[in-house]
Amino acid sequence: MRRAIPDNTLSYLLYPPLLDEAGLPSALQWYIDGLAQRSNLKIDLHISSDVGRLSQELETTIFRIVQECLTNVHRHSASSVARIALITKDGQAILRIRDEGRGVRAQLLGDPAANLSSFGVGIRGITERVRELDGKLRIKNANPGTIVEVIFPLQRQDSVGTKDTPKKANRQQQSI
Ligand SMILES: Nc1ncnc2c1ncn2[C@@H]1O[C@H](COP(=O)(O)OP(=O)(O)O)[C@@H](O)[C@H]1O
Ligand SMILES: [Mg+2]
Repeated sequence: MRRAIPDNTLSYLLYPPLLDEAGLPSALQWYIDGLAQRSNLKIDLHISSDVGRLSQELETTIFRIVQECLTNVHRHSASSVARIALITKDGQAILRIRDEGRGVRAQLLGDPAANLSSFGVGIRGITERVRELDGKLRIKNANPGTIVEVIFPLQRQDSVGTKDTPKKANRQQQSI
C-alpha cells in the first residue's frame, strides 16, 4: 500500500517545544491567531476548564488535527468562521472543528477509514494518527458546513479535573 507520508516525517514533526512549554490551549491560540491574521477566518477556541495536561502524543495529535482541519476550512469551505471545541467526558477527549461553509460531498461523510482513497494527505494523515491512539474520527454535515469530530480514550497519565496542578509537576509525574 502506498503511504501518504513516511513515518519518520510524522515523528520529526512531533511535539513542538511550544506545546510542551505552554500547553495545548496556548499553543492552539498562538496558531489560531497567526492563521486569523493570514486569512479572513474568525476562529473561536473553546477548551473546557477541566482539560488538564494530556499525554505528549495526544496533545500533539490534537494540535496537528486542528492545524489540518483549519487549513481545510480555509482552503475548501468558503466559511468565514471556524469553531474548535475540546472537552473531556466519561474518560474521553472529544475534539470538534466546525465551519459554516459549503460542506463536503456526501461520499466524504462518516468514517474516512472506510473510504481512505477519496481523501488527500491531510485527512489520511489524521486517520492514521487517530487509529494509532485508538480514537474515532467522523466527518459530519453541519448544515451548513462541516464538523470533524474526533474522540480519544484518555490514558491514565492524562489529567482531568486537575487544572490547579502545576504543569511542570504534572509533567514530571508522567515520566515515572
Ligand atoms: N472543511 C471543509 N469544507 C469543505 N470541504 C472539505 C473540508 N475539509 C475537507 N474537505 C474536502 O475533503 C478533501 C480532502 O481533504 P484533505 O484530505 O485534507 O486533502 P486536501 O486538503 O489536500 O485536498 C478536500 O479536498 C475537500 O474537498
Ligand atoms: Mg487538507
